[in-house]
Amino acid sequence: MAKPVKNYVCQSCGSAFSKWSGRCENCGEWNTINEEAPLSAGPGKKSLGAAKGRKMALTDLSTDEAPPPRTSSGVDELDRVLGGGLVPASAVLVGGDPGIGKSTLLLQAAAAFARQGLKVVYISGEEASAQVRLRAQRLDLKDAPVQLATETSLRDILTTLDAEKPDLAIIDSIQTMWADNVDSAPGSVAQVRASAHELTTFAKRKGSAVIMVGHVTKEGQIAGPRVVEHMVDTVLYFEGERGHQFRILRSVKNRFGPADEIGVFEMTGAGLREVGNPSALFLSERGSPAPGSAVFAGIEGTRPVLVEFQALISPSPHSQARRSVVGWDGGRLAMILAVLEARCGIPFAGLDVYLNVAGGMRVAEPAADLAVAAALLSAREDSALPAETVVFGEISLSGALRPVSQTENRLKEAQKLGFTTAILPNGGKATASQGMGLTQMSDLAAFVGEIFGAG
Ligand code: TYD
Ligand code: MG
Repeated sequence: MAKPVKNYVCQSCGSAFSKWSGRCENCGEWNTINEEAPLSAGPGKKSLGAAKGRKMALTDLSTDEAPPPRTSSGVDELDRVLGGGLVPASAVLVGGDPGIGKSTLLLQAAAAFARQGLKVVYISGEEASAQVRLRAQRLDLKDAPVQLATETSLRDILTTLDAEKPDLAIIDSIQTMWADNVDSAPGSVAQVRASAHELTTFAKRKGSAVIMVGHVTKEGQIAGPRVVEHMVDTVLYFEGERGHQFRILRSVKNRFGPADEIGVFEMTGAGLREVGNPSALFLSERGSPAPGSAVFAGIEGTRPVLVEFQALISPSPHSQARRSVVGWDGGRLAMILAVLEARCGIPFAGLDVYLNVAGGMRVAEPAADLAVAAALLSAREDSALPAETVVFGEISLSGALRPVSQTENRLKEAQKLGFTTAILPNGGKATASQGMGLTQMSDLAAFVGEIFGAG
């Protein structure tokens, strides 16, 4: 009889191997290969399709059910990111770097939901009860009706939650949970996966919402397998730069609302404060127009947000010039530099290029291409852009400018903040009737000619 073949599967990319190794040959991740039961259950066992199972009842798509009732926390920035409030029986994962403020955010959220009348249980696997209570005191939440426990045993936690039947359970963090039916240390891929699965199942079974905290790895992903992100209904990232007080809660997946929505907070001595007008905040450090600065009228989720791009260009002392980017995609910067060189004849060889988004914001919209190009050109020519001007538009490889979505909203927000001119692509639904001066162009070369006098 043939020996049963062992099956080792990478928990990160799903590749299967016949023997264990420390590093997955396929995706290069370390310590992600675990033994799993072989897929074909060995000789003598029939495939699933061969033996009869239970026949399921099928239904059509029509429904009389009302959309899920949501509970608002009373904190607008949080409700918006959740898609309009907390949905019962939903599982939410909140990821972020250590020390960014996840525990602070969730303790404040726990108190906010408890004050709306939800029964809230907060379970900390990282801090002692006394520490959590001290934080609550500092945040002025000590009289909020939140029930607290410190525990890491998932079995005890599930038993307690089963008995208490809370409307919302907060687990801080998923990496500290220990499922005793899995033979590996807390924080390992198998433990994180099992714990997330148990908690998500609990949410669906009992109708409690569960919010789990997840730490992120150096690469910026929630530690543990990607499957955790697939298991839950909503994935939020809490991000920000350590040196800045701004914190952004961003939804990257939401089964109950739009993704890519952001909520903006400010970390103060007494916890997180919501920021209702992020544009004013992100532009607050801006002085008089300076070379290398361009204000981008962006859209984050359903909301227009103005941010400042800053560029610095200097002759490079090295044979390989530096390209350094904070808050924007490095690959996209390389593309814009290449288009400027190939289509407008403006070389950046031998020059170090630094690009930064002010305020610790991260921008992912291609609509920011033109603002990036404007900041780069302004820095290179050492000449400031016209005052009170916003810029937006996508750049194609041919050097053509493409109109972007929600032009009206971008212009309205810019006008609200005192900007008087916008530089944008031709087309789109721009109307000058809003009291904004519009400078529309069809390609990057025209932009260079118009703003920087032929380049
Ligand atoms: P914390 O919520 O513990 O972060 P995480 O759970 O993501 O690891 O917050 C840690 C930081 O927040 C810490 O460096 C101190 C700061 N902080 C404030 O600035 N103000 C406050 O009111 C609180 C509670 C924390
Ligand atoms: Mg914490």
